[in-house]
Amino acid sequence: MTEQTHKTIEQAQEEGKYIRKVRSFVKREGRLTKGQARALELYWQEMGLNHENGMVNFSELFGNDNPVVLEIGFGMGKSLVEMAKNAPELNFVGIEVHRPGVGACVALAKEEGVDNLKVYEHDAIEILADCIPDGSLSTVQLFFPDPWHKKKHHKRRIVQPEFVETIRQKLKVGGVFHMATDWENYAECMLDDMQSSPGYKNLSETNDYVPRPDNRPLTKFEQRGHRLGHGVWDLQFSKE
Ligand SMILES: C[S@@+](CC[C@H](N)C(=O)[O-])C[C@H]1O[C@@H](n2cnc3c(N)ncnc32)[C@H](O)[C@@H]1O
Repeated sequence: MTEQTHKTIEQAQEEGKYIRKVRSFVKREGRLTKGQARALELYWQEMGLNHENGMVNFSELFGNDNPVVLEIGFGMGKSLVEMAKNAPELNFVGIEVHRPGVGACVALAKEEGVDNLKVYEHDAIEILADCIPDGSLSTVQLFFPDPWHKKKHHKRRIVQPEFVETIRQKLKVGGVFHMATDWENYAECMLDDMQSSPGYKNLSETNDYVPRPDNRPLTKFEQRGHRLGHGVWDLQFSKE
């Protein structure tokens, strides 16, 4: 039995799939509001992407060859919708596990008339492995990932050496991985992982953090951090 499990994991790894045993989230069963449920019912066909459909072809999906920006863990989607609205020359794909957040994002995108955004309701680790082609993304955004403050929980943080390598595979050459966090220890770990990973160039002039770029709207989580007096660290690395 144990041997069989091992074989399966090894086989998957040989196929280039990144198997992660510890998840970066705890599934919260928050209730959908009526508006969120309605938005999912009415617009999922148009805006939703499903893990079981496998690899996507972005040109076919969006009907154009515009650069693709992927955002992981978009929360309620407010800042993602704002970015998509401000950049109609780009295509956006969001991944979030929290269903009410996905519903809120779809509802807001429709309200704002945004049509360059598609979303997954699924674990980003599996979407990256099974649905996103290598070398297909111009930007990956990870804003305020769950910080998992306690040391014994650090293994749950989504940013790990394997994750950083997966993101590099998915980016085009010259594509940018942009992270932000309001937890200093997480920012330091992100920086360590990025600097030890070959094939990335730090876009920081001081070889650590970058000033908050103008195109990143304040996220909901960040606003909360500001109220609590937290600092914010942005990191941007390009694929060499
Ligand atoms: C602290 S919140 C930040 C949300 C948003 N980016 C913001 O700044 O307001 C982190 C989000 O990441 C999502 N998340 C965590 N792990 C994930 C995963 N593996 N795949 C997709 N979403 C994930 C959580 O559900 C949560 O909504």
